[in-house]
Formats: sequence, structure tokens, C-alpha cells
Amino acid sequence: MFLFGSADLFGVGLVSELKNDCLIRSLLKEPASRTPVWMMRQAGRHLPEYRKLRRKAGDFMSLCRDPKLACEIAMQPLRRYELDAAILFSDILTIPDAMGLGLHFVEGEGPKFRKPLRTERDIKSLSVINSEDDLAYVLEAVSLIRKELDGSVPLIGFAGSPWTLAAYMIEGKSSRDFVLAKTWLYKQPEILHQLLQKLTLSLIDYLNAQIVSGAQVIQIFDTWGGILSDAAYEQFSLAYIREIITNLISRYDDREVPVVLFTKSGGNWLEEIAASGCNAIGLDWTISLREARRRVGARVALQGNMDPTVLRSNPKCIESEVRRILDSYGSGSGHVFNLGHGITPDIDPFHVSVFIEAVHRYSGK
Ligand code: CP3
Repeated sequence: MFLFGSADLFGVGLVSELKNDCLIRSLLKEPASRTPVWMMRQAGRHLPEYRKLRRKAGDFMSLCRDPKLACEIAMQPLRRYELDAAILFSDILTIPDAMGLGLHFVEGEGPKFRKPLRTERDIKSLSVINSEDDLAYVLEAVSLIRKELDGSVPLIGFAGSPWTLAAYMIEGKSSRDFVLAKTWLYKQPEILHQLLQKLTLSLIDYLNAQIVSGAQVIQIFDTWGGILSDAAYEQFSLAYIREIITNLISRYDDREVPVVLFTKSGGNWLEEIAASGCNAIGLDWTISLREARRRVGARVALQGNMDPTVLRSNPKCIESEVRRILDSYGSGSGHVFNLGHGITPDIDPFHVSVFIEAVHRYSGK
């Protein structure tokens, strides 16, 4: 049983105060005082204070597995920038790790699994996870971060989509085209479906546990949905995401829990994504907000979509790009400003401050 806020302790009510609710309001398409902004990968390597902690801890997973350190890292970007949300510090690959694949990170090469999935037997032997036992360290980080935020801004919980996780589990590492996973899709679709079903059940359990532990918004990262064919995207990615969203706790602590679905390169499928049950669509920079709003803006909010490379340029370019994107969405609620993908490690934190301030300055008018 999890309790939050002093109001709970005194039995006054269940609603915990949220001083800045711009993000939640915008995700629900309710009026907000300004366009909220946060950045995918806002906690991480572009911050010197993160790099220092990682050096001390030795590697990335040691940071994730230590709830106090994970909490500290989630708070780091909020101390520097006026962000409208915090995001849990963890990784999408904690689920395959909990399923026994042996996740580790090789410096400069990204994630690797000691036991990638190679045969039908590998998949049959996988068990659906129980988050409270298998991923207790993540849930503890969620409740610590929520406590530390003390109602200042909402906390975003997250997970990868079943297809995106499956792609890493079959490939065993990062890849540009995930050709092994895609080969399974054509040669042994039933086996891939078995894997996706186990992941879906695990993800429902995991995301609901994050909500109960304190996550107030959920984002699903379908980073590799965009490499699928039109037909395969529906069958092997979106169908499972729909099942997840349908089974998520939709109200908790007397507040709606909005769901953002980010499918990288998913611009072709906006209508289908909007019908998945999500409250907002995360967009990369390959589609204009104006076009996306015209197609699906009546049904869902939109999150995005500045190319992270803009942050390498200079304050003048950053400000003009922020203005262009705000204009592209136009007036009215339902826009959450974000990058079109995660911030990269080479970005100067000063440029990030310019970016965040520009969003607030131009959208507050
Ligand atoms: O600040 C945040 O956004 C929260 C934390 C977060 C991380 N990973 C921390 C991280 C989140 C939301 C993720 C999601 C994630 N992880 C995705 C989906 C989003 C996306 O970028 O498309 C994916 C595909 C992964 C898998 C992953 N994790 C890869 C491929 C890598 C290595 C390459 C890279 O981008 O760094 C990671 C490592 C990782 N995850 C780091 C961080 C801070 C870097 C670790 C380090 O070297 O210190």
C-alpha cells in the first residue's frame, strides 16, 4: 500500500497538490498558462554532474539499481532548468534484464545482452515479470523521486513498447535495422507473437506498479516502430501497445494519468496511433506540428518536436526554431514542447537553458 502527501496521513483527502500542472493539463488538452516543456533524456550525459556520479558508480546500471542515486540524477536537470516535468531515471531495458537476459553496457557501444534470444526454446522459457519482486529498485526510485519533487512538477514514468524491447532482445544489442528481429517477424511470426504477449503482460504490470508508486504520466517509447512496414506496424507493435493502454490504471490519486505514445518515424500512422487510447502523440522532427494537428489534433495532444541537433547551433538559431515550432502548432491548448528524440551528450547546458527559456517566453504571451 502506497500513500502520498500529508493529506493522506491525516485522512483529509487523496489528491496530492501539484504546484505546476501545465504538463498534465496540456496532455489532457485543457487550457494551460504556457506551453510546458521537458526533454527526452534530460537526465544524463550532457550534464557534467551526471558524468561525475557515473564515474563514481562505475557504470550506468549501478546508477539505475541504486534508488537514491537514480533519484538524485532525476533531480539534476530540474536544478539547472525550469522544466515542467521530471522523468524517472532508469532504462527501457530493465524489463529484459529482469527476464534474465543479462543486460550490461559497454562504453561507447551501448546496451548488450549476455543471453540474447536465439531459439523458440529461449522464448518459451521466459516468464512474465512481477515488478514488485523483479524491479523493486525501479519502483523505489519512483517513490523517492516523487517525494523529492514535493509536488513541484509531475513525474513521468515510462517503458519501451513490446516491439522495441523484442528487437533488442533478439538482436542482443543496438542495431540500425534490427534485421534479426525483422527476419523472425517474417519467418516465425507466431514465435514473435508469443514473445510480444509475454512482454505486454510484463509491461502492464510494470507501468501500473509505476503509477501506484507515484508516476503521474506514462510515456511509452516505441523507438523502433518506425522501421516496420505499414502492415507489420499494426500487427506487431501498435496492437500490443493498445492492449497495454487499455489495461493501465487510468485514474490514480483522484487524477487522470495521461499516456504519451512516442513512435519514432511514426508520422505515417498518426490516425492509427491517435486511436490507440493514448492521450498524446510524441512526434519526431520529420513531420510538422501543423500537419499533425490537422490530422489528429482534435483527438489527442501533441508532444515535440525540435530536432535535438538544433541545440548544437547557437542561441539565435535555437530561439528562432522554438518560435517556428510554437507557430507551427498555433494557438490553443494541447501542445507539450519536447525534442523529437533524446538530447545527445555533446550539448552545452547553456544552450539547453536558452531553449527552455525561449519556450516559456514565447508561449507565455
Ligand atoms: O532522462 C531520461 O529521459 C530518463 C532516462 C532514460 C534513459 N533511457 C537513460 C539512459 C530513458 C527514458 C531511456 C529510454 C531508452 N533507453 C530508450 C527509448 C528512448 C530513445 O532514446 O529512443 C532506448 C532505445 C533505450 C536503450 C538505451 N539505453 C540505449 C540504446 C543506450 C545507449 C545509447 C545512448 O543513447 O546512450 C542506453 C543508455 C542510457 N540510457 C544512458 C542514459 C542516461 C546513457 C548511459 C551512460 O552512458 O551513462
